[in-house]
Amino acid sequence: MDFKERYGPWVVVAGASEGTGRSFARQVAAKGLSCVLVAKHGPLEETAEEIRRESEVDVVTAKIDLAGDDAAAGIIAAVGGREVGLYISNAGADWAGERFLEHDIEDWLSLSHINVDTMLRCAHHFGRAMKDRRRGGILLVNSGACYGGSKYLAIYCAAKAFQLNFAEGLWSELRVYGVDVLSIVLGRTDTPGYRQRRADRGLIVGSAEDEGLASAEDVAIQGLERLPFGPVHNVGLEDDDAMFGSSAAGRREKAVMLETIVMEGSGYKPETDL
Ligand SMILES: NC(=O)c1ccc[n+]([C@@H]2O[C@H](COP(=O)([O-])OP(=O)(O)OC[C@H]3O[C@@H](n4cnc5c(N)ncnc54)[C@H](OP(=O)(O)O)[C@@H]3O)[C@@H](O)[C@H]2O)c1
Repeated sequence: MDFKERYGPWVVVAGASEGTGRSFARQVAAKGLSCVLVAKHGPLEETAEEIRRESEVDVVTAKIDLAGDDAAAGIIAAVGGREVGLYISNAGADWAGERFLEHDIEDWLSLSHINVDTMLRCAHHFGRAMKDRRRGGILLVNSGACYGGSKYLAIYCAAKAFQLNFAEGLWSELRVYGVDVLSIVLGRTDTPGYRQRRADRGLIVGSAEDEGLASAEDVAIQGLERLPFGPVHNVGLEDDDAMFGSSAAGRREKAVMLETIVMEGSGYKPETDL
């Protein structure tokens, strides 16, 4: 199957107006998929118009706050009867960068809601239909923060660790049904959001080259290339690269496979409805 057959006809990109979300949407559209683009505000309509112009695919926009309790329901309503073959959970950066106790709990809960609740509800809804069709993809945009806790980032690290482990488990469950799951782990990446967060702290960000930032385009290229080869890809690294120590993607895949064998050996039945 080519990309469109495998992941089409529609993609949902949650957090699509700028940065990596916009790059994912543009590149997927260039492969012939129609797009449902979700963002809170930002240049959503401009991005939609750009994609229609570039790729001549259908583009639907939905202004939804992914931190809202009804965000997933809103996305599902916006999708309506369209067949979603690819779900990309992109938004989820930490805007606060503060100590846990020194920041409003409601903001932390919002951050957790985007990365956990809304992502889970969408993965569950769209994943079920993909499983029935025996094809599709779920791509979760993650951060190196998923590999351990850090001062100023306690909730962000915890939410991204949740995403990582969820992606690994779901990958193991859905791979036999032809549904691909990938957690793409980013380092510092040149997005408007990244630059804004630095500016909010009074920090000036130079050129991407000087600062050693990945580009949003490269992240999207790698994410789409590696989607069939989950559960984890660390941007800019080979799968067996040990830069993240025990978190090299190849090692994590082996650990998930081993755990699956142990579970099946201890009474958890392998799939019978293949
Ligand atoms: N940039 C980096 O250096 C970096 C590093 C590691 C990981 N990551 C990960 O990469 C992903 C993208 O990061 P980013 O830097 O581009 O910033 P981001 O704020 O997570 O994502 C930006 C996109 O998501 C939308 N968005 C943000 N909050 C939203 C909300 N509550 N509801 C709906 N849409 C929302 C933004 O549009 P609106 O604001 O208009 O809604 C924009 O289109 C995140 O998951 C982040 O954790 C980024």
